[in-house]
Amino acid sequence: MTRPARFGIMSRMPNSPPGRWTTARIPDQAGRTAIITGASSGLGLATAEQLARHGGHVILAVRDLARGERAAAALVAGQPGASLQLRRLDVADLDSVREFAAGIHRDGVPVDLLVNNAGVMFPPRRLSPQGHELQFATNHLGHFALTGLLLDRLRAGRDPRVVTVSSSVHRSGRIRFDDLTGARSYSRFGFYAQSKLANVLFGLELHRRLGAAGDPVRSLLAHPGYAATRLQTSGPTGLVRLLGRLGNRLVAQDAATGALPQLYAATDPDARSGQFIGPDRLFESRGHPTVVRPARAAEDTATARRLWEVSEQLTGVRFDVPAGP
Ligand SMILES: NC(=O)c1ccc[n+]([C@@H]2O[C@H](COP(=O)([O-])OP(=O)(O)OC[C@H]3O[C@@H](n4cnc5c(N)ncnc54)[C@H](OP(=O)(O)O)[C@@H]3O)[C@@H](O)[C@H]2O)c1
Repeated sequence: MTRPARFGIMSRMPNSPPGRWTTARIPDQAGRTAIITGASSGLGLATAEQLARHGGHVILAVRDLARGERAAAALVAGQPGASLQLRRLDVADLDSVREFAAGIHRDGVPVDLLVNNAGVMFPPRRLSPQGHELQFATNHLGHFALTGLLLDRLRAGRDPRVVTVSSSVHRSGRIRFDDLTGARSYSRFGFYAQSKLANVLFGLELHRRLGAAGDPVRSLLAHPGYAATRLQTSGPTGLVRLLGRLGNRLVAQDAATGALPQLYAATDPDARSGQFIGPDRLFESRGHPTVVRPARAAEDTATARRLWEVSEQLTGVRFDVPAGP
């Protein structure tokens, strides 16, 4: 089997979708329920729109209900038959994650798809309500906990999948096990990259554990390349925010295109557990979904296991899937 280049020089990965994958290839989603975190804007909203357009029931998990209501109203205006539900979830707050998951259990909501999409990028150092660094808490820990708490609901789903949204920036990341809160040294970029590396380590470790246990749930990863969303302007400040605004205008692809990799991972019958899906052009910055290779550090199973154990300790959520062989 040919191994593709790790990054940049795109030789086509085995099992990549043939041709240009577009939303026209999304299978009928009728009867499927998806939870999308951070569905109030950007890629989450674009993902919700497509899943609803193809007949799925979509739970928009948002931290700001007013913003969520505006997003849902816009979706319904575009597609009056859309089946949507709004639920509050602040993924940076583990109490909110538990409350959200308890609500899903209490209401007996079936879950076929969980898209771990919400994210923040480059904020000044801040701590979550439980004292975790905000980017690590939002992008990784909250989604780790949410996945663990919903795994049994997913097992009851049809073709159940967990799609975790990372970034090509994960390639610059390293996990600072000795300073996860950034108390000793914090860099906005370094901690974003850490959180996005954690996404890939988690998604791949989940895949290995589920596979070893013969579990029906698939774990996939996706990244959008560079898409114009609020990400580049809501967290950063000063010059970086200005550059983000310019980049969004001049360089980025739109959110609908950026969402294609996560939509492929979420819906395509040929998408396999453990795959990482990203765009196929210009050093994975834009284009149509293809299978991409994670950074070597993201494939390190010892780091993945250590991160898993630390994440269980920090969140208090234990998965009922044992470590793989
Ligand atoms: N855009 C890109 O070029 C790019 C590149 C690589 C990776 N990504 C990844 O793509 C994902 C989606 O980002 P985006 O580009 O769509 O940015 P976005 O437009 O800023 O969307 C991020 C979403 O996450 C939500 N969110 C932030 N903190 C949250 C919290 N504590 N609890 C619940 N929701 C929260 C935001 O809610 P509010 O509306 O309340 O702020 C928003 O809906 C992120 O994981 C990001 O790292 C994006």
